[in-house]
Amino acid sequence: MKPLIILNYKLYKEAVGTKALDIARKISKIKNDKYDIVVSPSLCSMKEIAEKTNVTVFSQHTDHVPLGAHTGRISPEELKRINVKGTILNHSERKIPLKYLARIIEQCVKNKLKTVVCASTLSEIKKVAELNPHYIAYEPKELIGGNISVTKANPDIIVKAVEMVHNINPRIKVLCGAGIHSKEDVGQALLLGTHGVLIGHSFVKAKDPKKFLQDMLL
Ligand code: G3P
Repeated sequence: MKPLIILNYKLYKEAVGTKALDIARKISKIKNDKYDIVVSPSLCSMKEIAEKTNVTVFSQHTDHVPLGAHTGRISPEELKRINVKGTILNHSERKIPLKYLARIIEQCVKNKLKTVVCASTLSEIKKVAELNPHYIAYEPKELIGGNISVTKANPDIIVKAVEMVHNINPRIKVLCGAGIHSKEDVGQALLLGTHGVLIGHSFVKAKDPKKFLQDMLL
């Protein structure tokens, strides 16, 4: 398994509308065999990017509902039909009560969607690890959106998170995110035992996101 880099577009103005597809098309041209790259665009951009590029698309959120009378919801069944391959869940900006999280993960597994469950503390990591997602992303809320990398601010917590998750279920892979903005941060995340990173503003708001990612992959 190659290390994973998830590029979270969030709802940044630099990555919505036609810009969402434009960024995905540019990064789809990057030669890279070292990392698995995933983009996580806004709800409105997912289908077009999944259809028109070869970039792997994850949703930023998913609900626990099947297809049917569920106004305003996102169903894992629909994501599967539009060739979305996974979903971020419980992001600090989109929290999900634990009881729903368990049901969403179950529905995602049924629909062959990878699950990346975010957690901002070790105690939350322990709780979500019991739900057996594919990935757990340690993202301390206070560092999200800033320029202090979680790998520099909280290396010990990352190491503890990897060890704790491995003891609960060695199949779960740990990622980390928040303030990641250089290839050194990515390298440090891997050295600390994670399987990869999530990156938001430093990628989306880069003057040249394609060059930013290329430099990250060197
Ligand atoms: O999901 C990743 C995101 O929350 C990290 O945000 O802007 O600190 O890279 P950022």
